[in-house]
Amino acid sequence: MKKNILIAPSILSADFSNMASELAVIKDSGADWIHVDVMDGHFVPNMTFGPPLIKSYRKNSDMIFDVHLMTEAPERLLESYKDAGADRLTFHVEACRHSHRYLRAIRDMGLASGITLNPQTPASAVEYLLEECDQVLIMSVNPGFGGQSFIEPVLQKIQVVKKMIKDRGLKTLIQVDGGVNSENSQRICDAGADVLVMGSAFFNEKDKKSFVNKIKGTL
Ligand code: DX5
Ligand code: ZN
Repeated sequence: MKKNILIAPSILSADFSNMASELAVIKDSGADWIHVDVMDGHFVPNMTFGPPLIKSYRKNSDMIFDVHLMTEAPERLLESYKDAGADRLTFHVEACRHSHRYLRAIRDMGLASGITLNPQTPASAVEYLLEECDQVLIMSVNPGFGGQSFIEPVLQKIQVVKKMIKDRGLKTLIQVDGGVNSENSQRICDAGADVLVMGSAFFNEKDKKSFVNKIKGTL
C-alpha cells in the first residue's frame, strides 16, 4: 500500500551564499517541509543557523520550517526560534532533563513539538513522552554533519517506536534523519517512517522535482 510520505530537504546541504534561490528550488521540487539544522558547537561539533538567519529565510519562504535543535539547553532557545519563524521545533532528549515540560511548552506556543534520539539512544527514551510529541525524529547518523552513511541498526528502532505509537493510537509522526537516499528510502518507510529528511541526496540531485516524485511515487 502506498503511504503519503513527506519529504523535508535539509538546508544544511544547500548553498549558504544563495539561500533565497535554494529555498525557491525546494518549493519548486514539491517537497513538503524545510528542515533547518541548528547546531551550537557544543552538543555537536559544528555551528549553523541562529535565529536572525532563520528570520531572514522566513521572509523568502512560505513553507513549513521544521527546526531541529542540536544544542545544549534547548529550553532556553524555544522562544527565540519560534519568533524567528519555526513551525515545528524538535530538540534532543539527550540534551534536556525535563523533556516533557518543554514538549508541552512548544505546543503551548502553538507549534508542533518533536523529540529526537541520537543513534545510541534506545527507543524507550520516548516511552513516557509520546503523548506530548507531534513527531519523533530518529537520527540515523551521529548528528553534526551532512553526507554521512545511514546506520542500519536504526531500522529496528524505527519499528519499535512505530509499534509504541500504533499501540497507543497516537498520530505522532516518525521522522528519519541522516544518510537517507533513494536507495534506502523504501526500507526506512517500510520500517515506519512518515517523514524523510534529506540533505545531500536532495541537493546532489539535478532534477529535484523528479527526485521528489520518484521517492513519493514508489513508497
Ligand atoms: C545531521 C543533520 C541532518 C543532515 C542530513 O546532523 O541533522 O539533517 O543535514 O544530511 P544527509 O541527508 O546528507 O545525511
Ligand atoms: Zn536534522
